[in-house]
Amino acid sequence: MKMRLTDFTMAYLEAGEGLPVLLIHGYPLSKNIWQPQLEGLASAARLIAPDLRGHGGSSATSGTYSMELLADDCHALLGALGIRPPVVVGGLSMGGYVAMAYARKYPAELAGLLLVATRAAADTPEARNNRLKAMESARQDGLEATFDNMLPKLLSPQTLAKNSQLAKRVHHIMAATSLQGVLGDLAGMRERPDAMEVLLGFKKPALIVHGEDDQIIPRVEAESMHAALSDSQLVVIPGAGHLPPLEQPEAFNQAVSGFLGHVTRR
Ligand code: MLT
Repeated sequence: MKMRLTDFTMAYLEAGEGLPVLLIHGYPLSKNIWQPQLEGLASAARLIAPDLRGHGGSSATSGTYSMELLADDCHALLGALGIRPPVVVGGLSMGGYVAMAYARKYPAELAGLLLVATRAAADTPEARNNRLKAMESARQDGLEATFDNMLPKLLSPQTLAKNSQLAKRVHHIMAATSLQGVLGDLAGMRERPDAMEVLLGFKKPALIVHGEDDQIIPRVEAESMHAALSDSQLVVIPGAGHLPPLEQPEAFNQAVSGFLGHVTRR
């Protein structure tokens, strides 16, 4: 499905009924990373998984995709779908940065936060420099090189060794990201502010999920978000790297389903 928003068209997938749960993908991915959740959690909630601008079936715009801009895009989609708060906002990695930007901008609209394979900290000076190098490489060497370089970092050694089909699927998902999307994301992540104070002020339930073998974001980042939040649970999933929803969908869905029960009982 597609929705025309301010300056672009946003593609999204939807499943289920009840408590709205927004699922925001990471870089350089798409809504399709949430397929196992759209199938497995539809009896528990109304799931909405958008393609961020420049990704998957959404159109691209030029310039920096700040995390606030991407949060506003998601907010506009929910408004256009007639979805009223409260909503659970969830995101994986860069999608988590967007979820925290959403919590900063619209705190009263959240029923809970789902933070997957992500961090609250801003980029270090070294990481900021690496973003520039990645932008240069995407322009010079092309996107295929960007995606080839990213793939082994996204998945756990176990997934890479045993699930070549999933590795192919993730490559296919990445291949639907445009150059404008890659550049916009990298520039936006580079300038994002630290979100620790957002978490310190967040008094509603939160679930943090981290893959035991995440090679992109160390587990200590999940632990420090857990320490900052007042009502959070941290679930570390064995056999998963940076993509627990795809690599270990059953364990992931079980954790989310328990969390949604906690949010609705509260
Ligand atoms: C992501 O998976 O969304 C990105 O790798 C996050 C990042 O580069 O900081």
